[in-house]
Amino acid sequence: MEKEYCAIYLSGTGNTKFCVEKLVKSLDENAPIIAIENSAAISAAAGYKNIIFGYPVQFSNAPKMVRDFILANREVWRGKIVICVATMGAFSGDGAGCAARLFKKCGATVSGGLHLKMPDSVCDSKFLKKSAEEKRQIIRRAEKKIARTVLQIGSGKFPHDGLGIFAHIAGLLGQRLWFYNKTKNYSDKLKIDNTLCVGCGTCVSVCPMKNLTLENQTAAPHGKCTMCYRCISLCPKMAITLVGKKVVEQYRLENFSDGI
Ligand SMILES: Cc1cc2nc3c(=O)[nH]c(=O)nc-3n(C[C@H](O)[C@H](O)[C@H](O)COP(=O)(O)O)c2cc1C
Ligand code: SF4
Ligand code: SF4
Repeated sequence: MEKEYCAIYLSGTGNTKFCVEKLVKSLDENAPIIAIENSAAISAAAGYKNIIFGYPVQFSNAPKMVRDFILANREVWRGKIVICVATMGAFSGDGAGCAARLFKKCGATVSGGLHLKMPDSVCDSKFLKKSAEEKRQIIRRAEKKIARTVLQIGSGKFPHDGLGIFAHIAGLLGQRLWFYNKTKNYSDKLKIDNTLCVGCGTCVSVCPMKNLTLENQTAAPHGKCTMCYRCISLCPKMAITLVGKKVVEQYRLENFSDGI
């Protein structure tokens, strides 16, 4: 028999994991919460009727790894009921809709879409950077929205953030039409500063795409980056960049939240 909820997510710097965990634990305290890079994610999802699926928005799109994961496992989603949760630094238009449309193509019913503003994760850009107190407030506001959503779902009403036609147009015109090339394929733009890298291997072990290896005691990327920023936020030498030229601030959710 299928069980209640299962949560699956991609999270680079912790925001999405935090939000998905808060939401699903309030709906079903026994729900498994599994990262998409974990090989157990698909077999777990297969046994559940309701899937909460979370990811960070990138240039108003779902990350390439998320899109590939949904399409590669299309047979699993048939008949499932999915709530798409998109976290973002500012705006996405139809962030939740990007995955929702793919799930529908694969035969799932999308019962809800939830957009949650969280601190921005782009560690090598000054754009959207906030003070520590502002980050705490953003996280508190997201927690309140999650609590309201849990009550709504309890009374049979589902949020529809990012799912309608106007959201779709806003996502297209706001960003996706101009920046689609950035998320179309995996990125080969990740840069390692060899003068800073000490070959500790942290980036290699945390990458969900297994995009990094150590060669001659230095990290080397292999052109399959899904731009999650996990390695960039965790490198002890701030040696990794992607969008920008220099690490401005390594974002770590745990510095600004009280945990689940
Ligand atoms: C490459 C990249 C592109 C992003 N694009 C957007 C965007 O278009 N709109 C937005 O509001 N936030 C954007 N963000 C911010 C993230 O979506 C946001 O910080 C998210 O909560 C990070 O979640 P995570 O910690 O689970 O990875 C972007 C982040 C990255 C790394
Ligand atoms: S985490 Fe940083 S220092 Fe460590 S191997 Fe990777 S790039 Fe080098
Ligand atoms: S290389 Fe870094 S930013 Fe790219 S997918 Fe791996 S951990 Fe994420």
